[in-house]
Amino acid sequence: MLNTGTIVRIGKGSVALLHGSGSVASLGQICPSAGSPSQFWSPAGSIGGQIRSSEASQSHLCPNSFRTLTQYRSFTSSITSSSHSNPLGLPNFKPANTNLGVKRSLSRVKHILLVSSCKGGVGKSTVSTNLAIALRNLGLSVGLLDADIFGPSIPKLMNLHGEPRISQQGKLIPLQNYGVQTMSMGYLIPNEDSPIVWRGLMLQKALQQLLFDVEWNDLDVLVIDLPPGTGDVQITIGQMLKVSGAIIVSTSQDLALIDVKKGISMFEKVKIPIYGLVENMSVFVCPNCHHEEHLFGKDGVLKEAERLGIDYLGSIPLNREICSKSDEGFPIALSGKDGLGRYYYEIAEGVTRHLRGEGEREK
Ligand SMILES: Nc1ncnc2c1ncn2[C@@H]1O[C@H](COP(=O)(O)OP(=O)(O)OP(=O)(O)O)[C@@H](O)[C@H]1O
Ligand SMILES: [Mg+2]
Ligand SMILES: [Zn+2]
Repeated sequence: MLNTGTIVRIGKGSVALLHGSGSVASLGQICPSAGSPSQFWSPAGSIGGQIRSSEASQSHLCPNSFRTLTQYRSFTSSITSSSHSNPLGLPNFKPANTNLGVKRSLSRVKHILLVSSCKGGVGKSTVSTNLAIALRNLGLSVGLLDADIFGPSIPKLMNLHGEPRISQQGKLIPLQNYGVQTMSMGYLIPNEDSPIVWRGLMLQKALQQLLFDVEWNDLDVLVIDLPPGTGDVQITIGQMLKVSGAIIVSTSQDLALIDVKKGISMFEKVKIPIYGLVENMSVFVCPNCHHEEHLFGKDGVLKEAERLGIDYLGSIPLNREICSKSDEGFPIALSGKDGLGRYYYEIAEGVTRHLRGEGEREK
C-alpha cells in the first residue's frame, strides 16, 4: 500500500521518510549528481515535503528520480514551490535568457511555424492540429505546442491527457499521439475546470518555460498554436524565438479580415515572415440539396491576400465532420488525403514549400 509521510534530513546526504507516528519508513540518499543538498533542503535540513513511501524508498531522492511533475512538486512543495521565476515548478530550473533583443532558436528544432488569427474561434487550433498531422504524414518530424495558456485545446484535439514526464535534464517530455509530439498547459494544470489565475510576470515566465523547457525530440517543424489576438503571448514569442514563418487563419467575413491586418502588422514589427493566409469555413455545402452557401462571404481572404501580396495557402469548408472528428480527438487529416483531410494536406504542401525557402516573397 502507498503511504505518505514527511521527508527529513538526518545527516549529510541522507534522508528519511517519517510517518505521522514518528516511525521511520525508509532511507534514501540525496543524489550527489543533483548538486548541493541545500538546493533541495532548507539550510536547517529539517522538514521537507510529502512523498509516498514507495517513491522514497528509491535510493536516490533527487529531481531526476521523480517521473512526473506532480511527484516532484509534492516532494518540494514546502521547499522550492513554484515561484514567479519558475511558475511551472520545474526541477533543475535555470531561468531562460530573457534578453528581449536576442531571438533564440530551440535546440533540436529546425523550424518554428506560428498559426495565428487575431479573431477568436476562427479555427486556429483545428488548423494547427490537422496541419501538424498532415506535415507528419508528408514525412516530417513534427511537434505541436499549445501556446494558449488560458484556453488550451490541443489535449482534446489530440486525444491526449495525463502528465508529462520529466527528463534527466529536468525538462518536460512531450506527450505523443498520431506521430506528433505535443506540449500544452492543459497537461500541467491539475484540474481542467480550475482557471489559471496568472497575470503579467507569471504568465510571461510560464510561457517561457513552455517555450524553452520542453525536450523536443529532433523536430523538422514545431507548429505553435497561438491564442487569439495580438497580446503578450504573441509579442513575447515574436521577440524571443527565431520563427521561420507564420500563417494567419481567417474567415472571409469583414470583421475577421480587419483583424488579419492587425496580425500582419504585428508580425512585420517583430520581423516574422508571413507564409500566407488560410481561409477557414469558406463554404458550406448542404448535405441534402448540395447547394453551396458562403456563410462568411466569398473570396474575402483570397482578395486580401492578393491585395497584400502574400500567399493564399488554401481554404477549408465548414463541415460537420471536421467539427465532430475534432471533438472525438481524431482529427480529420488522419483520414488521409482523399476525403475532407485533403484541404489540410494542400495547406501543408504550401507550408513545406515555404520551409524549403521556395515560397518567400521579398517585401
Ligand atoms: N472547417 C471547420 N468546419 C467545421 N467546424 C470547424 C471548422 N474549423 C473549426 N471548426 C470548429 O469551430 C470551433 C472553433 O475552432 P477552434 O477551436 O479551432 O478555433 P480557434 O481559433 O483555435 O479558437 P480560439 O480563438 O478560442 O483559440 C470548434 O468547435 C471547431 O471544431
Ligand atoms: Mg484555439
Ligand atoms: Zn439544401
